[in-house]
Amino acid sequence: MATAAAYCLPLFLLLLPPLIIAAPSAAAAGPELQPQPQDLLLSFKAALRDPSGALASWSLSTPYCNWPHITCTASSSSSSVVSIAVSLQGLGLSGDIDAASLCRVPGLSHLSLASNAFNTTVPLQLSRCASLVSLNLSSAAFWGPLPEQLAAGLPPSLASLDLSGNDIEGPVPPGLAALGAALQVLDLGRNRLSGVLHPALFRNLTGLHYLDLSGNQFLESPLPPELGKMGNLRWLFLQGSGFTGAIPETFLALEQLEALDLSMNGLTGAIPRGFGRKFQKLLSLDLSRNGFSGPFPDGVEKCVMLQRFQVHDNAFTGELPAGLWSLPDLQVIRAENNRFSGRLPEFPGEVSRLEQVQVDNNSFSGGLPLTIGMIRTMYRFSASLNKLSGVLPDNLCDSPVMSIINISHNALSGSIPEFRNCKRLVSLHLSSNGLTGPIPTSLGALPVLTYIDLSSNGLTGAIPANLQNLKLALLNVSYNRLSGPVPQELISGLPAVFLQGNPGLCGPGLSNNCVVPLRKHRWLALAATVASFITGAMLLAIGAFAVYRRLYGKRPSPWKLVLFQPIKITGEELFSAFHDKNVIGRGAFGNVYLIVLQDGQKVAVKRLVCSDKLTFRQVKSEMNVLAKIRHKNIAKITGFCYSEGEVSVIYEYFQKGSLQDMIYAPKFTLGWKDRLKIALGVAQGLVYLHHDYTPRVLHRDLKSSNVLLANEFEIEPRVAGFGIPCFVGEKVYRSSLYSDVNQKCYIAPEENFTKNPTNLMDVYSFGVILLELVTGRPAEQLASKDSSDIVRWVRRRINLVDGASQILDPNISHTAQQGMQAALELAVRCTSVKPDQRPDITEVFRLLQALYFSATMP
Ligand SMILES: *[C@@H]1O[C@H](CO)[C@@H](O)[C@H](O)[C@H]1NC(C)=O
Ligand SMILES: *[C@@H]1O[C@H](CO)[C@@H](O)[C@H](O)[C@H]1NC(C)=O
Ligand SMILES: *[C@@H]1O[C@H](CO)[C@@H](O)[C@H](O)[C@H]1NC(C)=O
Ligand SMILES: *[C@@H]1O[C@H](CO)[C@@H](O)[C@H](O)[C@H]1NC(C)=O
Ligand SMILES: *[C@@H]1O[C@H](CO)[C@@H](O)[C@H](O)[C@H]1NC(C)=O
Ligand SMILES: *[C@@H]1O[C@H](CO)[C@@H](O)[C@H](O)[C@H]1NC(C)=O
Repeated sequence: MATAAAYCLPLFLLLLPPLIIAAPSAAAAGPELQPQPQDLLLSFKAALRDPSGALASWSLSTPYCNWPHITCTASSSSSSVVSIAVSLQGLGLSGDIDAASLCRVPGLSHLSLASNAFNTTVPLQLSRCASLVSLNLSSAAFWGPLPEQLAAGLPPSLASLDLSGNDIEGPVPPGLAALGAALQVLDLGRNRLSGVLHPALFRNLTGLHYLDLSGNQFLESPLPPELGKMGNLRWLFLQGSGFTGAIPETFLALEQLEALDLSMNGLTGAIPRGFGRKFQKLLSLDLSRNGFSGPFPDGVEKCVMLQRFQVHDNAFTGELPAGLWSLPDLQVIRAENNRFSGRLPEFPGEVSRLEQVQVDNNSFSGGLPLTIGMIRTMYRFSASLNKLSGVLPDNLCDSPVMSIINISHNALSGSIPEFRNCKRLVSLHLSSNGLTGPIPTSLGALPVLTYIDLSSNGLTGAIPANLQNLKLALLNVSYNRLSGPVPQELISGLPAVFLQGNPGLCGPGLSNNCVVPLRKHRWLALAATVASFITGAMLLAIGAFAVYRRLYGKRPSPWKLVLFQPIKITGEELFSAFHDKNVIGRGAFGNVYLIVLQDGQKVAVKRLVCSDKLTFRQVKSEMNVLAKIRHKNIAKITGFCYSEGEVSVIYEYFQKGSLQDMIYAPKFTLGWKDRLKIALGVAQGLVYLHHDYTPRVLHRDLKSSNVLLANEFEIEPRVAGFGIPCFVGEKVYRSSLYSDVNQKCYIAPEENFTKNPTNLMDVYSFGVILLELVTGRPAEQLASKDSSDIVRWVRRRINLVDGASQILDPNISHTAQQGMQAALELAVRCTSVKPDQRPDITEVFRLLQALYFSATMP
């Protein structure tokens, strides 16, 4: 509908001009010359400051209805009446608002000046806009009081008034009551309004659907009981506005409410009995951060559509209504920092849609619900600082999305179960309980586990060696009864690891350094290690042989060569060039060969083995899409060669090699500006792939060896190697992904267990490259003593007092320090374990651009 209207309108207007132009002659005959709408609009424009020229094309040479930001509509009854919407939001306007001219434009029904920079008071003359239906002045730097004359003079047709996000001060003028039942939307939120609310306002505005007075911290008002008269209210936002006293009984009558937010006020007293019983449509209730007390009354369990229940940071006592926990659509329960007591009930596991339950710092007792792990949507459960007892349920984190568990400071006992299904668990806090037994080895296999706090329990045994596999930011096992050697990498990662209060632990640097005479069972252990090493080596050899056979053992089956650009190469030449001496790169999916063509031109060819049987046609259609990509930071695909079981992709070749070659070189001497330029170029290429090219392309294999450096004299990176899953098939892609140990750390942790790849996975890989640029260290350093990958290496140091000075590349001059620090922070965000904490690549690009500009400023 909307698009149809957009296309149809100009046509309609083309037919109209005679009518519009005819009008002045009639008016001119009258005693006073009636100014024309276009003249009025132009004088309105003349007073504005429009630095970006958004209104530059307003001119008499086109009918004003065709001007940008103006929409004309014919009324349905008679085509001659036109109502006009002037929508000037977000144009960077300032200067004077000539409301006197503007309001004389006949039929002006919608006016938006929102999101501009007027820096003036609200113009009184706006009350002359006699046919206004909606007036939007939000976030436009208006200040000063809202004059009573303006409020009282607004036209009775007004249905929506938005003054939010300004610096409007003084009382809410009671004159607004004159708008009566016609007003549906009133948004005065986020201003500096003060004083007491006049009851007449609420008695008269009975048509309001939407009322927002939030964020006016200088209001000092009880909640007016008259609010209960606004029976049509669906959204009521009164948070953060200095409201005091109790919730009036009359609130129970607001049966249409969908969202009620009273949080962050000074409200006190008990919640009226029956509260919620009639809120059949309520989706979100927020009473948090007030001084409410007493028990939470029965009734809220009747809010059958409720999704969010937030009552945290009050002084509630007693039990939560039992029916609350099983509301069918409930997603969030936040009740922390109260004095609730009683047991946590069992949830209706399979049907519950709970995502987040936070009940910390109350007096809940009894056992943990056994059904937590059965809720498929649960990602955060915290119940720390209560009196919970009993054992941890085996299935505690069986929910496929469970990420955060905090049940520290309770009275739990028994051992920690093997958590095998917690594929998304990021944070596990079980400290200060009575847990006993060993730390389960299964923790070391949880792919994204980053924070572990098991301190102050009675845990025994050794610290499992495989915790070294995690990218830990915190491991606190202090004050337990652990013993034995601490795994080497955990020690070198100090002080992100807290071990004190375990006299039995030993290792270099600890008070007990583990030198114990070798005993028999150690020899056994050694023998077992050797045996498993040999087995591993044999398996590797078998695997390598299989690949070898696939590549060389059989002649390539009939092949087809497709070139997107005129280069001189034949399939025979291609295959005969696949020789070890031509290899310039090795990757998980195959080798890259340098091939010199007959005319001396060089190309790089990536030879990919693919067992998924993609047909020639499938590969070709994928290639057609990828080969059309044209961007200065994306390496061009010039052709490909297909034969059954393998695809060879022909790329442009760049003499200067890859970023990885540079970083691995004995001295990585590139200056900070050039490094920023590389980062910026790669980001720009990704922005193009993710957002500007249709269809969207995900890179899926971004790493420094795929960042090619194009030009001998000026740094300009080109990203290669994108879209590989498109032509080797998803299955092969996934199975080969981890086979290259040198490149593992570029892979976002969730790649392991999410079915659908996302652009945020590319952002992660980009973050790793940015870390390489900031530190001057290769992403993986297998041979070195400090053998952790770069993400772990940085995470271990980032929170130290002088962490940054250890991380930033010492070869770069101190003058760049500030910019490098900012780039480091950005890289750390990009490599967040949780995808939703990573920025989008467009944001990354913008931030890098700002850094680049300030780095190149003289
Ligand atoms: C608003 O105008 C005043 C002077 O009238 C000026 O001092 C102030 O800096 C301006 N504010 C902005 C944000 O432009
Ligand atoms: C006012 O304009 C802003 C910015 O365009 C918009 O976000 C807001 O929703 C508008 N208010 C109303 C009530 O439509
Ligand atoms: C309330 O509205 C009525 C018309 O709906 C109007 O006559 C009356 O003056 C208004 N009261 C106030 C206080 O503005
Ligand atoms: C626990 O909640 C009370 C309010 O009930 C609050 O005063 C106290 O600071 C909270 N304790 C912690 C550790 O957050
Ligand atoms: C876990 O709960 C404790 C006690 O309430 C709190 O101090 C700690 O910050 C919480 N940890 C996390 C990661 O939420
Ligand atoms: C580790 O646990 C101990 C004991 O619970 C606590 O005192 C210490 O603050 C914790 N350290 C960190 C960094 O969480």
